[in-house]
Amino acid sequence: MKKRENFTSRTGFIISCIGAAVGLGNIWMFPYRLGQNGGGAFLIPYFIFVLTLGSAGLITEFAFGRSAEGGALTGIKNGFKNKGLKGGALVGIIPAVGLAGIFIFYNIVVGWIIKYLALSVSGDINKIDISTYFDSFSGSFETILWTMLAIGLAVIIVCMGVSKGIEKINKIIMPLLFVIFILLAIRSLTLPGAMGGVKYLLTPQWEYLFKVNTWVMALGQAFFTVSLNGCGMVVYGSYIKKDLDIPRAAFSTATIGIGASLLAAFVIMPAVFAFGLDPSAGPELLFITIPIIFKAIPGGQILMILFFISLLCASISSTINMLEGPVESFMAQTKLSRKKSTILIAVGSFIFSIPLSLNMNLFNGVADFITIVVSPVAALIVFIVFYYMYDKRKVLEEINMGAEKNMGEKFYLFAKYGFVVITILVIVLGIVYGGI
Ligand code: ALA
Repeated sequence: MKKRENFTSRTGFIISCIGAAVGLGNIWMFPYRLGQNGGGAFLIPYFIFVLTLGSAGLITEFAFGRSAEGGALTGIKNGFKNKGLKGGALVGIIPAVGLAGIFIFYNIVVGWIIKYLALSVSGDINKIDISTYFDSFSGSFETILWTMLAIGLAVIIVCMGVSKGIEKINKIIMPLLFVIFILLAIRSLTLPGAMGGVKYLLTPQWEYLFKVNTWVMALGQAFFTVSLNGCGMVVYGSYIKKDLDIPRAAFSTATIGIGASLLAAFVIMPAVFAFGLDPSAGPELLFITIPIIFKAIPGGQILMILFFISLLCASISSTINMLEGPVESFMAQTKLSRKKSTILIAVGSFIFSIPLSLNMNLFNGVADFITIVVSPVAALIVFIVFYYMYDKRKVLEEINMGAEKNMGEKFYLFAKYGFVVITILVIVLGIVYGGI
């Protein structure tokens, strides 16, 4: 049997997980959700959920993958076999299909980012009317080409394999992302009037804590941001060695993810306030508000280039995880090579992305359905298989193998009952509220 690929080091694994976790969820969604849900008040449920559910979810997905020595499909099939149940393969493809779904709509946004990067580099961004351009561009035929390019980038990296592709590229682009973001935060914070944004971020509008919506949004945000989808983190977990400290890696991923979200908020909000723009502008914050700001300040073109490069780093490090998950499941099931599997999944994803690229209502509907229903259901499946189909001793052994500080009875109970109940709540509330 061919030896399973591995991350070469603990750092390489953690950077790759941070790469998967930190993405458009932190930079694009987080600042506008924060803006729409009470500024600083939103931080409270967000911190609570990322640190508790996010960390527990990551610990579980990593341990599940490592113990199965395979991705979600292999792990779920093993669990069903353990219990003498049929249908493991059918249930097992749900996480991979869900993650492929995220890959599809996410790459449309990555395509927009590449286009805006190209506009910034060529200087054409100075010639267009930024406030109207985005509406005419999104949904246009041209976006299909940019989506294809975005998918192509992920394909090249995933074809190179776990250590030579995914790990290597993350080690380069993730530090780059943080360096650029720190520089941008300094620039944004030193704009005249920027302190209004800081105050906004740090002064909670407490009344928002009494709104169910604030908690639902924070919950969905937490799931999306640490990439709890029953597949992506499982597959990375399946490439680690037995001596790796899983709880520590999970906690590092969750806290650095929070740090990235805050950094993004401190890049965007001070600048938004300095220019008297709307902090709750929604999705167009990145594609309209920020370019308007950069266009108006000296050296703005360079800042704009840096900004879109950093967005690209954040999103590519996430899309390679979204592609690796389904590719690994496909390889496990069909025994096809990595290259062939990657190309097949990518071509399929590209075909599905075409109608979404052209119709923004469809795009929003599919993105909502996958993030609200499919991903949490897939995460739930992994939890149920791990905590209900394996015995407690084995589960804790798998989690604690290589750990400095062991997870005990309380963690087990929280994961087995608390997490499962809360996840079901996420799904139900998400459906009721029609958008997490
Ligand atoms: N976790 C990734 C993000 O936040 C998917 O964008």
